[in-house]
Amino acid sequence: MEAIRVELGERSYEICIGPGILPQLGGQLGEFHFSRVALVTNPTVYALYGNTLLHSLKKAGFDAAVVTIPDGEEYKELLWAYHIYGELLKHRLDRSSALIALGGGVIGDITGFVASTYMRGIALVQVPTTLLAQVDSSVGGKTGVNHPEGKNMIGTFHQPRLVWADVDTLRTLPRREFLAGMAEVIKYGIIWDETFFSFLEKNREKILSLDNAAMQFIIRRSCEIKAEVVSRDEREGGLRAILNYGHTIGHALETATGYTTHLHGEAIAMGMYCEALLSSLLGLIDRKSVERVGSLIGSYGLPSKMPSGVDEERIISSMQLDKKAVAGELKFVLPEKVGSVVVKGVRDTEKILESIRSHG
Ligand SMILES: NC(=O)c1ccc[n+]([C@@H]2O[C@H](COP(=O)([O-])OP(=O)(O)OC[C@H]3O[C@@H](n4cnc5c(N)ncnc54)[C@H](O)[C@@H]3O)[C@@H](O)[C@H]2O)c1
Repeated sequence: MEAIRVELGERSYEICIGPGILPQLGGQLGEFHFSRVALVTNPTVYALYGNTLLHSLKKAGFDAAVVTIPDGEEYKELLWAYHIYGELLKHRLDRSSALIALGGGVIGDITGFVASTYMRGIALVQVPTTLLAQVDSSVGGKTGVNHPEGKNMIGTFHQPRLVWADVDTLRTLPRREFLAGMAEVIKYGIIWDETFFSFLEKNREKILSLDNAAMQFIIRRSCEIKAEVVSRDEREGGLRAILNYGHTIGHALETATGYTTHLHGEAIAMGMYCEALLSSLLGLIDRKSVERVGSLIGSYGLPSKMPSGVDEERIISSMQLDKKAVAGELKFVLPEKVGSVVVKGVRDTEKILESIRSHG
C-alpha cells in the first residue's frame, strides 16, 4: 500500500492506494475515534463490496448503519440528500460520527455534500470504487448535487479525513466506465506532466489489461498531481482551475445532451481534444501536439471528436451558463504544450465554434 498526503494544514489527510486493502479499512479508522459510522452506497456497489467492508468495520468494533440510494447520476440530487439526512437522524449519528462513501463519484459527491451539512458538518471517509473516483472525485473536497438547471450547481468544499482506494475494485468495473476514468488520468499528463503522458503512451497494453503495478502507478501519480494542485489552491482561487481542462466544452456537451448519451469521462475526452484544438486556433500550441493529445485519447478507446449532429449553439449557450463563465467571457484551460496549460478568457465565439465543428 502507498500513501500520499494532501497538505492542507489541520485539514490534511492521506490517500491510501493498494490492491486488496478494503478489508483493512476498519482497523485504520480506529485512530479517528468516531462515535458511529454510516456506510453510504448504492445497491450495485453494496452487492459487490458491502459485506467485506461491513465485516472489516465490525471487527474494529463499529456497528455501521447502512444507507443506500439508487444507482445513477439522476439520484445525485437534493431529494436523495434529504433521504440520507433522515436515515442518519434515525440511526442517531451525531457530530462525532463519520460517513463512509463507498462507490463512484456520484456516491462520493452526494455523501460529501451530506457530510458537510449534517449537523453543520461531520467527518467523511472516501472509499472510491471507480477509476474516476480514485484519481479525481474522491480527492480535493468538492462535493455536490445536481439541479435541473445544471450539474453540480449546489455544493460545498468539505475535505475527507481519509481516502481509501482499493485498486482491486476496478476489476469489476464495466469496461466503458474504466475507459471513461482514463480520460481524467490522461488529463493529468496534459496539464502537468509530460513524462506521465509518455508513460501512458508507452504502457497502454499493461494499463488496459489492468496490470497491478501499472494501475497502482497511474492512480498514485494522478493523486499526487491532484494533491499538489489542491494543496496550493484549495478553493479554486487560481491554480486549481487547471483541473477543469476539457470541462468547459465537456460539461456543456453533457448539459446539451441531457447527460444520457455520454459518460462524464467521454464528454471530457472530447472536451480535451476540442480545447487543445482551440488552443492551436489561438496560436498557443502547435498542431502536432494537438494530434498527440488526440491519438492518446483515441488509443484508450475514448472519443476525441464531437459527435456529428451535435447542437453547437446549444453547447455555446450551456457554456455561458456554467459557473466558470464570468461576464460573458468563457474561461478555458488551454494547453501550450503537453504538460503545461494556461487559463484564459476567450471572447471569440467563432473560434470556439470552429474548435467544436472542425472535425464533426
Ligand atoms: N467532486 C469532484 O471533484 C468530482 C470530480 C469529477 C467528477 N465528479 C462527479 O463524479 C460523478 C461520476 O462518477 P463516476 O464516473 O465514478 O460514476 P458513478 O459513480 O455513477 O459510477 C459509475 C457506475 O459504476 C458502478 N460502480 C462503481 N464502482 C463499481 C465497481 N467497483 N464495480 C462495478 N460497478 C461499479 C456504479 O454503481 C455506477 O453504475 C459525476 O457526478 C461527476 O460530477 C466529481
